[in-house]
Amino acid sequence: MSHLLKPHLGQPLPNVARAAGSWVWDAAGRRYLDGSSGAVVVSLGHAHPEVLRALHEQSRLVTYAVRAQFTSEPAERLADRLAELAPGDLDSVLLVNSGSEAVESAAKLALQHWSERGRPEKHRFVSRRASYHGTTLGALSLSGHPVRRRHFESLLHAFPAVPQPSRYRCESSAACPPCDLSCADAFDAAIRAVGADRVAGVIVEPVVGATGGAVVAPPGYHQRLREICDHHDALLIADEVMTGVGRCGSFLAMERWDTVPDLAVLGKGLGAGYVPVAAVLARRHVVEAIAAGSGLITGGHTYSANPLAAAVALAVVDITIRDRLPERARRLEPILGAALRDLMESHPHVGDVRGLGLLWGLELVADRSSRRSYPRERMVTERFLAACRANGLLLYPASDGHNDAVLIGPPLNVTDDELDLLVTRLDTSLSALEAELPASG
Ligand SMILES: Cc1ncc(COP(=O)(O)O)c(C=O)c1O
Repeated sequence: MSHLLKPHLGQPLPNVARAAGSWVWDAAGRRYLDGSSGAVVVSLGHAHPEVLRALHEQSRLVTYAVRAQFTSEPAERLADRLAELAPGDLDSVLLVNSGSEAVESAAKLALQHWSERGRPEKHRFVSRRASYHGTTLGALSLSGHPVRRRHFESLLHAFPAVPQPSRYRCESSAACPPCDLSCADAFDAAIRAVGADRVAGVIVEPVVGATGGAVVAPPGYHQRLREICDHHDALLIADEVMTGVGRCGSFLAMERWDTVPDLAVLGKGLGAGYVPVAAVLARRHVVEAIAAGSGLITGGHTYSANPLAAAVALAVVDITIRDRLPERARRLEPILGAALRDLMESHPHVGDVRGLGLLWGLELVADRSSRRSYPRERMVTERFLAACRANGLLLYPASDGHNDAVLIGPPLNVTDDELDLLVTRLDTSLSALEAELPASG
């Protein structure tokens, strides 16, 4: 009997034994292509020698110091580097350990900024219905992830939420397409309904990740959202935990729409699977409000800004930029997109293919013409992931609780041959799913 609590009690998992580049081996010697970089984390692949060197070198100097007693060269250099790479004046950096903590920290910075400006009544957030911002109670309150919320509703804040900006399943306008950006205007309506004087900010994933599978907003959406936030004096928080650090073809995905959020949240690809680390990047006006008030950045965790995590994250960011991996993601975007769309020709279960950079989603349906999904009880997402795994391919689930979808997000330095193999294995796995589930539903 295992004493370790795993996601599904009673459901065994293979033991991971080692990993290198885009490949993972289990203890039985089976090899898997890491088609989703774990949970869209391992952007530089596994066991990158330069990251391991940075980890070893820093561990010989100092691994831990509490941030109230010391700053450190790696943490200072990482903050400088992130400030330099981020657009606009997003130039203050708070370091924490996970995406959930970073989302909570961003929300708290937003609240504190309003409180220090003498407007504590601005304490509500508006988010999106199908979204994921983390598993701690604050971050979960901002998330529309039915399965992860289910047992905790009693402790969650009831924040207003608007529909996803989905071009495949638009809930905002009966006339879509063409898109009239009703999905962005839904934020305007939600802020007015709460009262702009009570809204601290808005939080979005630039590309929806875990609840929908790489749902990319229509052109103009983020620019409109920026205008709405400015109009209502609400801070725009971009949760770039999944999309940031080059994943979507620019350092922040928001740059693809020339939009500078007031707060940006990084996680996953920042530590790239080598250390737990996450960050909040804040614009100058946010920090200035706090500096002019209490001057105190409250919060932070025991391991915040520890030198080991900072040194590794700095190496990850430096390698990402030196190797021009955001540019590579942007170059591969149309190539992977076309290969995935080709799969639609022979696989009627694939209802939609969408993505940005190297973050792609496949939505699986029972009937393509009506876009009807399988009932969730049929666990199509899970069955498909199992078929992929049986074919030596690891992908990540992205069901929004109603529809079935998976995320594809290989390491940004995946080779061309590995990318071809990923598509071949997807093809085989879709055939295996079809053998199990007739397309009639
Ligand atoms: C967009 C987004 N935000 C926040 C989180 C939470 O990050 P973590 O699991 O590191 O707490 C995730 C994790 O999947 C995410 O995808």
